[in-house]
Amino acid sequence: IIHEDSNIASLSVANEIASLINQKQKQGKHAVLGLATGSTPTKMYDYLVQFHKEGRLSFKNVITFNLDEYFPMEPDSIHSYVRFMNEHLFDHIDIERHNIHIPNGNLNRDEVRKYCEDYEQKIQNVGGLDIQVLGIGRTGHIGFNEPGSALNSKTRLIRLDRVTRLDAASDFFGEENVPKRAITMGVGTIMDAKKIILMAWGEGKSEIIKQAVEGKIRESVPATFLQHHENCEFVLDGAAASSL
Ligand code: GLP
Repeated sequence: IIHEDSNIASLSVANEIASLINQKQKQGKHAVLGLATGSTPTKMYDYLVQFHKEGRLSFKNVITFNLDEYFPMEPDSIHSYVRFMNEHLFDHIDIERHNIHIPNGNLNRDEVRKYCEDYEQKIQNVGGLDIQVLGIGRTGHIGFNEPGSALNSKTRLIRLDRVTRLDAASDFFGEENVPKRAITMGVGTIMDAKKIILMAWGEGKSEIIKQAVEGKIRESVPATFLQHHENCEFVLDGAAASSL
């Protein structure tokens, strides 16, 4: 779906998420959302906050699972995805804190494996993700599933690609400060979502969008696996779609 600009595109995704939440509420059910960080989804979060402030959207029935977190990472660090999500969404809405799940970047190495298995189990226990929101990295990563990630990969500790660390360098005031690892949901975790919405804006994403949409399905560009999903939307602005 190609929109005129990223603002209109973000509004359309926010509307879709809001209607899922409202529909589930009427049915007395939870809406389970998989959420992403990065600059791409911030406008969409602004709209969700706006809908809430206008009194037309409650998050009381919403359960969220974030895709990823740097490792190691203290939750109250300015760089943490916990902080990012609080600032952009959770501090401004009526979600129950116990319904928020973000991978914990503050574990001992020997705790990680069990923690990741439990994260998967928690998603299963609430019936799986209704909608997974994604951005895309220049390497073709979704979440932090870097090139080489398998189609059936699950939540795990990964090593970040050099390109990804370079892209994050300015946020961390230098590449050397960017963590070398992250915990991420797997490609398989993402693919199990009932619906996937990948957003991308700007010309800088046009080449990787072309590969993801039209390229051969392969581990070296993990976003190509989305071609296998039966209910996946790419929501783009004109610039991100310009190489298609
Ligand atoms: C990070 C996140 C991804 C995100 C990507 C793109 O690597 N872990 O989930 O999609 O950045 O970021 P941006 O939206 O800022 O381009």
